[in-house]
Amino acid sequence: MQFYMPTELITGEHCVVENAAKLARYGKRCLIVTGGSAAARSGALQDAEEALRSQGISFTHYAGIEPNPTLASCQEGGRLAQEAGAEFVLGIGGGSPLDAAKAVSVFAANPGMTEEIFYSAKWDHAPLPIVLIGTTAGTGSEVTSVSVLTDSAGKKHSIHDRRVYAALAMGDARYTMTLPRAATLSTGIDAICHCIESYFSKKADPFSRLFSVQGVRLGLPVLRQVAEMGAEEQPTLQQREALYQASILGGMAINPTGTVFPHNVGYYLTEHYGIPHGFASATFLPELLKHVRQQAPELCERFYKACGTGEEELTALAKRVVPVRGIRLSEDEIRAALPRWENNGTVRNTVGTVTMEEIADMLRKEF
Ligand SMILES: [Fe+2]
Repeated sequence: MQFYMPTELITGEHCVVENAAKLARYGKRCLIVTGGSAAARSGALQDAEEALRSQGISFTHYAGIEPNPTLASCQEGGRLAQEAGAEFVLGIGGGSPLDAAKAVSVFAANPGMTEEIFYSAKWDHAPLPIVLIGTTAGTGSEVTSVSVLTDSAGKKHSIHDRRVYAALAMGDARYTMTLPRAATLSTGIDAICHCIESYFSKKADPFSRLFSVQGVRLGLPVLRQVAEMGAEEQPTLQQREALYQASILGGMAINPTGTVFPHNVGYYLTEHYGIPHGFASATFLPELLKHVRQQAPELCERFYKACGTGEEELTALAKRVVPVRGIRLSEDEIRAALPRWENNGTVRNTVGTVTMEEIADMLRKEF
């Protein structure tokens, strides 16, 4: 087994303000990194500012992170951090601002760097300390050493380096109360995909599988309830908390294993058709479940037994939450896309063997 997670993690109501003193460890000046308006709408930005003020920490706010953050916006954040003399970076948001905050901290310490950020051996200096406050229940980025960014050609790449673990991560499920229904479902199914994909990775071990199983046990029943709610109904704080905890457990699960093919094939849908990340990954979840039933039946059975669920239920949930898209991929488009998965680590790490014909069939079937 292997386990490494240097992040101090605190969750619970009002945890940001109550733990303000911990922020003083990282310096006197900070760059806050967020997307457009969700950080303020969730209440997390106000809590973070109150916590920073209470410790006499000055801050500059960079709100330029877009969904599926680009290299360019993270570079801009790095420049701002430098100009402001920031000693640490505080990211607030869902997956995009949190992943971006990690990259901003690398750029802030390594001015002039561009695409080399994807090759962490080329970083001359260690990133600035990173503090993350989650406002969605899905990404798990609070506790992972991964940052997924989009390059200038529109393609997603990930940074995977221990130096981008947050020093401190805080999560208060109250911040997720303002999430619209579609975002709750997309981020919630993302968390479930993290747990399941990690479980069926060749790199999984009994320790990572503890997180996978517990994440599914906590998150799945609630996600099913949310999926069945009427448009005017809202999840309770208790339900939001269960989803948030599942997302953290999903992050802990994928740390040593990474995700497997649904996430990577899903990137194609996000890059080309703007499908939200969680829905894009969940599109291929039923295919993963079918694959592991055929290639690792005993492992499958152990998983379903431990989680109290089954292929039918998970497939039905994935199909229920993913909105109908009306996308059509031609045979030529499918053929043109296949090479990207030929030597892909996440495809290779799926238990059993995933062939290119299997992926082509998946795409034909889905579209
Ligand atoms: Fe994900």
